[in-house]
Amino acid sequence: MAFSIALLLLFAAAVLGHIPRPAASCPGYRATNVQQDDSYLVADLVLIGSCNLHSKDVKNLRLLVEYQTDTRLHVLIEDADRTVYQVQEHVLPRPKSQNATANGAALKFSFTENPFTFNVTRASGGEVLFDTSDSPLNFETQYVRLRTSLPQNPNLYGLGEHSDDFRLATTGYTRTFWNAESPFIPNRANLYGSHPVYFDHRGDAGTHGVFLLNANGMDILIDKTESGQQYLEYNTIGGVLDFYFLAGPQPASVAKQYAEVAGLPAMMPYWSLGFHQCKYGWQTIDYVAEVVANYSAAGIPLETVWGDIDYMDSKRDFSTDPSRYPTDKARRLIDSLHDNDQHYIQILDPGIRQLDNYGVYKRGAEQGAFLRASDGSYYRGLQWPGEVVWPDWFAPNTQAWWNGEIQSFYDPSTGIDVDGLWTDMNEASNMCPDTNCLTSTSSIEALGWTPQKAPPQLRARQSDAAGHKLGLPDRDLFSPTYKIASHRGPLSAFTLYTNITNADGTHQYDTHNLYGSMMAAATRAALITRRPSKRPFVLTRSTFAGTGRHAAHWFGDNASTWDHYRAAIRQMLGFAAVHAMPMVGSDVCGFNGNAEELMCARWAMMGAFQPFFRNHADVSAPDQEFYRWEIVTEVAKKAIDVRYRLLDYLYTAIWRASEEGRAAVSPLWFHYPGDAATWGVQTQWFLGEGLLVSPVVDDNSQAVSYYLPKDVWYDFWTGERVVSTGEMKSVDGVGWGDIPVHIKGGTILLMRAKSANTTTELRKQNFVITIAPGVDGTAKGALYLDDGESLDVRDQKSQITFSWNGKALEASGTFGYATDAVVERVVVLGDGGSRTHEGPWGLHEGFVFYL
Ligand code: GLC
Repeated sequence: MAFSIALLLLFAAAVLGHIPRPAASCPGYRATNVQQDDSYLVADLVLIGSCNLHSKDVKNLRLLVEYQTDTRLHVLIEDADRTVYQVQEHVLPRPKSQNATANGAALKFSFTENPFTFNVTRASGGEVLFDTSDSPLNFETQYVRLRTSLPQNPNLYGLGEHSDDFRLATTGYTRTFWNAESPFIPNRANLYGSHPVYFDHRGDAGTHGVFLLNANGMDILIDKTESGQQYLEYNTIGGVLDFYFLAGPQPASVAKQYAEVAGLPAMMPYWSLGFHQCKYGWQTIDYVAEVVANYSAAGIPLETVWGDIDYMDSKRDFSTDPSRYPTDKARRLIDSLHDNDQHYIQILDPGIRQLDNYGVYKRGAEQGAFLRASDGSYYRGLQWPGEVVWPDWFAPNTQAWWNGEIQSFYDPSTGIDVDGLWTDMNEASNMCPDTNCLTSTSSIEALGWTPQKAPPQLRARQSDAAGHKLGLPDRDLFSPTYKIASHRGPLSAFTLYTNITNADGTHQYDTHNLYGSMMAAATRAALITRRPSKRPFVLTRSTFAGTGRHAAHWFGDNASTWDHYRAAIRQMLGFAAVHAMPMVGSDVCGFNGNAEELMCARWAMMGAFQPFFRNHADVSAPDQEFYRWEIVTEVAKKAIDVRYRLLDYLYTAIWRASEEGRAAVSPLWFHYPGDAATWGVQTQWFLGEGLLVSPVVDDNSQAVSYYLPKDVWYDFWTGERVVSTGEMKSVDGVGWGDIPVHIKGGTILLMRAKSANTTTELRKQNFVITIAPGVDGTAKGALYLDDGESLDVRDQKSQITFSWNGKALEASGTFGYATDAVVERVVVLGDGGSRTHEGPWGLHEGFVFYL
């Protein structure tokens, strides 16, 4: 009994990753043929002896080190034959090297020859950032391991998607990367997306980032050795070691440097920052019309209504249910939404019902758009419509087919005139729980389908020239010996068989984590084809590094719990500050389960301060539109009112993220990197550069303790000046519609004077400028304006910088976007209260205001 309990504990500990795994010792590689000049170094790495720990050793490797910019060091370790899979350039374009030199670079690469290990240090001061010297590299056909030592208890952030602490645990912690449908967003589990990048914050010694461009399934372990040495270890089941080291040294500069590698996030349409309402389970189009009417009757502004799979005929993409959601009625509702300056978005799932009389399937089949098994038959799975085939985003005509379907179904004059699209279930989520689902006789035959065999072998590889980097042959693509710790079990469970070959010769084994991102990219491209001049809006559930270039993201199927209310803040910080995906948010009030009134009230207010603001719930959850409760109605009105008055401030932050990679949302330590009290804060955030949001986070509570770093602050609601020496503040009696927000001293805040019922109306409102002088009495701010919807705004934009020197407020920059909105008021906050100066002043070149 005791023995089995011990075993059980051991098992539980192993599953939860609490046992430091010893680095099985392998001899590693020897570096030879080293060649280098000022800006690069190359070497051959030759296996010493043998290891074959989980698969076969790859004997010959090649090392490339490039000083790409002064702050970016690229270290690539690939197989000498360049057959091992590497993420396709068209999926994630690599940043260009600007041929910086080792001399001028902020990071320094050094290595030992035998065995080969390497270090990355800061050029000035010599701080060691990455150090593999404790354990030689392992590079096998289906297992690659690299370990870096780290200082004790490091402050590491990122490595999403997860719902764990924003500052990652430092012992017994495993982050698994394998995109998976993850209802209830469990902790310590791989969720819908993979972002193998972390920021390592060392206080005054600076912050740096490490991005491993590798899409394969992997576990990253963060732990201590038995002798207490802190480490981080990559364990991947394939791919190469393609590292980008980002020097910072400021946290905000690491974010920017990462966005330069992963790609700058897409600019969002102005309207998409409005309030969205969605629900799975709106059975009829009439019901949707009622929801819209109810919002209007309640006086809560509703910008966008969403169509979940309810609109579909038998849950098939590009169809409307003839009786519940007839196209003509849907069109009438959408027309009326548009007449009222509201918007409409629909969902699309990747699984395409395989039926000969279903045109979407037929046309896709004609275009060769679906994944196939080795015998040429379509690879099938289970999604909402039943048995489905899956788009192969690598096939040459898939984009054209997808464009065609989107263009014809969403034809503004004859079809459903959507304003954006929502790509869901794209991990890809297969309702087949295991690899037997479509092969066993049980469930599948009961449904009248023919059993399908697993593809017995791989399809022919492409020609040699194209075959480079497509993936090694002769691997076990189903069940590699090293098992990543996916919470969904085997690699192929609940997704596509990993031994499926894509049209370009790569395999799902290597490309699984890219599926959702590619669907989002294809959908964005299709929307651009449909309306070339309009900025597209795509919301995607599954993501990979760089998906921000294409889409917004929500955190999937959370629950209506306080826990997930808090998780939403951590997840937002991960995506917006580290993963270069600013347009993110949770299902407000929670997706699964019953939303409770007071929790929903808090979430409505908190969600208003997150970039993407959508209330959504499951079919099994009761309706939770804001107007369903009295308290939530009042809170939502207030929340949307303040959000809308701040909408240009948020839009400017999103624009700066898309232009410069500046984080639109950031943790306190981005702004106070030297203040250790900020490093673990995960319940407060900066929205833009100047607003600190500190919501109540405890269950059913009216009290909150929040941290105010040493600085001058102004209560956003009252203007009261607060000088903090770096203290926790405790507030009691925070009403259900209240949320502590502070303006950081030194900020000039641009707001609309009044909110409005829609963002279109909002854009006509005048501005109010609030000056919140910093410790030195000065302040600055920014405002970005354009028409809010053009894909290419050319010079029809205003990029205005405001500065305050204690006496004069000046605006400089470009003023290409013509607006009738004027500055109605200037409010100067200060010691003895605020002073208000009534305008109006035109917002144009030469704008000056003197006290
Ligand atoms: C998935 C999505 C959820 C959606 C549902 C039905 O669970 O995550 O948001 O409502 O599918 O389409």
